[in-house]
Amino acid sequence: GSLRESVTTRVAPKAKSAARILPEASYKVAVLGAAGGIGQPLGLLIKMSPLVSELRLYDIANVKGVAADLSHCNTPSQVMDFTGPAELASCLKGVDVVVIPAGVPRKPGMTRDDLFNINAGIVKSLIEAVADNCPEAFIHIISNPVNSTVPIAAEILKQKGVYNPKKLFGVSTLDVVRANTFVAQKKGLKLIDVDVPVVGGHAGITILPLLSKTRPSVTFTDEETEQLTKRIQNAGTEVVEAKAGAGSATLSMAYAAARFVESSLRALAGDPDVYECTYVQSELTELPFFASRVKLGKNGVESIISSDLEGITEYEASALEALKPELKASIEKGIEFAHKQQ
Ligand code: NAI
Repeated sequence: GSLRESVTTRVAPKAKSAARILPEASYKVAVLGAAGGIGQPLGLLIKMSPLVSELRLYDIANVKGVAADLSHCNTPSQVMDFTGPAELASCLKGVDVVVIPAGVPRKPGMTRDDLFNINAGIVKSLIEAVADNCPEAFIHIISNPVNSTVPIAAEILKQKGVYNPKKLFGVSTLDVVRANTFVAQKKGLKLIDVDVPVVGGHAGITILPLLSKTRPSVTFTDEETEQLTKRIQNAGTEVVEAKAGAGSATLSMAYAAARFVESSLRALAGDPDVYECTYVQSELTELPFFASRVKLGKNGVESIISSDLEGITEYEASALEALKPELKASIEKGIEFAHKQQ
């Protein structure tokens, strides 16, 4: 009982005297692909959120056990399981946030684009169900290639007449998480303080960390910039190779996705100070989709932060120009897929 007592005495008085009342657990979150490598730890992290009232887990198989397991954690949210397309609609009705990590991951030697043929169809069918059942929800797309799956989702939502560009997000949080970690390690900084904006897209050279915009302000030699940029761009492949055929990043991805969910829920709850990098419809460049820092609010993207792209270094400016053709091609590939399926 001593642990319990100390937790109670430490937490309870503080909560009572807190100037700002924390929002209640009142949000419903669905995870599609919840039995997978990302889905399981992501479910666990969302189960720990004090803001969630219902955690709805959907997969085509094996989700009952995951839900039974998670449901024993004594945190506020109720866990519900949904298996197969026949149960998808009831999974989605009334949810505030839908997170989609459904699809196949990379194996060594594969690019994210190699996943297109399988994952494009999976994302399409899931987004159709989202459009029919919870068109108002924030939609977080994790399934790769994100550079193409987000444009696919946008087109499907348009076809259904429910596209809201402010509520469709490609999850690029892991690129920021990695950049923060690697920069803090390299420069001996306290991790908690480091924030590196990462713009562009989510694959190879389209991942552009703006190291010159790191907060707190740090300086890098040209060699450090080159080495850190490459490492951040190839970090996913580092994990794919270490896992040697058993998949790609799942645990760090779940961590990053849970951060993005929590940020979205805080925004929904009215927190006026929520910023995340994410891949969204954007007018920051001539490309229709682009990852950058955005301000999140109750209605989704409140504004896209343009200042990060102002006054960037020559290295960053040329990397930005270099990534555009690849990102443009991935966007067009997604749009074309969605049109062909009509
Ligand atoms: P996994 O294979 O372990 O899990 C995928 C899950 O999706 C499985 O449980 C599978 O049954 C389920 N699934 C397949 N088709 C489905 C459908 N039609 N409806 C619902 N569920 C379905 O794969 P993992 O490692 O969890 O990766 C999932 C995706 O996330 C991959 O596409 C991967 O490339 C991507 N990813 C994205 C990252 C990012 O930064 N955005 C980082 C890491 C991975």
